[in-house]
Amino acid sequence: ETDKSTDVVWHLASVSHQDRVAANGHQGAVLWFTGLSGSGKSTVANAVDKMLHDVGAKTYVLDGDNVRHGLNGDLGFSDSDRIENIRRIGEVAKLFVDAGLLVSTAFISPFAADRSLVRELLGDKPFIEVFVDTPLEVCEQRDPKGLYKKARAGEIKHFTGIDSAYDVPASPEIHVQTANQDVQQCAQQVVDYLRANGLMS
Ligand code: PPS
Ligand code: ADP
Repeated sequence: ETDKSTDVVWHLASVSHQDRVAANGHQGAVLWFTGLSGSGKSTVANAVDKMLHDVGAKTYVLDGDNVRHGLNGDLGFSDSDRIENIRRIGEVAKLFVDAGLLVSTAFISPFAADRSLVRELLGDKPFIEVFVDTPLEVCEQRDPKGLYKKARAGEIKHFTGIDSAYDVPASPEIHVQTANQDVQQCAQQVVDYLRANGLMS
């Protein structure tokens, strides 16, 4: 009896992206929330995350709490640090999308060029730009962390919308206006987009 094992080809155990998509019942995608400080990015992103999670989707939120204190703890708010902040977040989001998740990111991401780079980085995976469009006056009125007050007093320099630029998205996939709609309506608008585009059943 000859040893047949010499003809057996062993494949490395591997789970393909398509295997993950099939197991999750949906594709991976990035919901890239962008807007001024206090516009509602975190609030709406977390509301969307809850709605998706509750129907069984595999999800995650990247925001300042888990990124700027950890991975990007070495970065501040100069233009170059914001560029590097967004670049790293884009790379992390790409990994999570490859893992098959619906990832919501909640960063000001003020520069259009950096948002475009992340879109390109994602390649054929969906990059869904969600413009959380809230007028500066409304953000300043909300001032949930008292930062606008400090920025106006000159205690914080280079504050977005005061003395640092915010490039308004030219053609976001989703445009939410938090001054006219409550949190649930804004979140529903995002989930409706995912359903209409076959990213959620
Ligand atoms: S960026 O521009 O995308 O790199 O910014 P991000 O990582 O989203 O961090 C923004 C939060 O940091 C606080 N903060 C400032 N924001 C803007 N400008 C300056 N100078 C600044 N200094 C501190 C602020 O709380 C932002 O949080 P959000 O959640 O947007 O209010
Ligand atoms: P950001 O992450 O953009 O800095 P946050 O979500 O931390 O903003 O804060 C937004 C604030 O605005 C919260 O206090 C939230 O309760 C309030 N808010 C009022 N209406 C809305 C809305 N429709 N969508 C999101 N936030 C809203």
